[in-house]
Amino acid sequence: MLKPIIRYPGGKRRLRVPILAKLARYENWAEFREPFVGSGAITIEMINAHPERDCWINDLDIGIYCMWKSLRDNPELLARRVRDFVPTMEAYTQIRAYLRSRPIGACDHDVVHIGFCKIAIHCMSFSGIGVAGGPLLKIDQKWSPVHLCENIARLRHYVRHIKITKTDYGELITDESVPCLLYLDPPYWAAGVGLYAHFFRPRDHVDLARRLRSTPHSWVLSYDDCPQIRNLYEDWADIASIPAKYTIKSAPVITTELLISSKLPAKGAG
Ligand SMILES: C[S@@+](CC[C@H](N)C(=O)[O-])C[C@H]1O[C@@H](n2cnc3c(N)ncnc32)[C@H](O)[C@@H]1O
Repeated sequence: MLKPIIRYPGGKRRLRVPILAKLARYENWAEFREPFVGSGAITIEMINAHPERDCWINDLDIGIYCMWKSLRDNPELLARRVRDFVPTMEAYTQIRAYLRSRPIGACDHDVVHIGFCKIAIHCMSFSGIGVAGGPLLKIDQKWSPVHLCENIARLRHYVRHIKITKTDYGELITDESVPCLLYLDPPYWAAGVGLYAHFFRPRDHVDLARRLRSTPHSWVLSYDDCPQIRNLYEDWADIASIPAKYTIKSAPVITTELLISSKLPAKGAG
């Protein structure tokens, strides 16, 4: 079974069925792009379903970028770091301080180190929140090197040819060199601040809508269901709401999320 290496805040694994169904409506594309990839729950499914097509993933978070890059370029070394690690409260504190210092992945060794730290912090933190959350009371409770290494060994084959960048998402929309299908999962209107190193201010949500309105690419976008976001897309995009279930402090919370998508081309067009 394919699944992301880390549990990630806002990760879309649980919502993959309705998201993949929306994406499957589009046909004429040569490259799949995920500009806010995080743990990549949807990218993994798309590469599996369309191995013959190109893929470009991106995230501004250096830890996320290094995790994907070391999975693609140095999976053995990454797996070795996982196997050799012993989770302790001291290691948690050190890794969190290191990631908060905004390290730069200048060489391959740094990239693997940062990528490994990203995996470790999400496995040692409460609800998989990472640097923004606190540590698990029992720090090794979720540390499972055997499963992590199996997953690294499985996923490395899928990511061999993908393009990985760490830039502002806009480039993945404005680059029109090939016809693309985009899945976008930006920081949410209400819950994005505090969860990620890079979050959206209200004007960033407006900018994203403006860019999507003028792109020729096909796209699917997921969001929290709130009037501010509905207002940005009503009248010119397709808006559907889907049920979503999250667990907060061990209690299930039922809510709805938005799946917003570009209009399907008229039959016979393009
Ligand atoms: C909701 S999460 C994506 C979760 C992902 N769909 C998954 O399944 O794990 C949003 C991501 O956007 C990234 N991000 C925030 N601002 C960004 C920007 N301006 N450009 C690119 N990535 C950004 C964050 O680092 C975060 O990883």
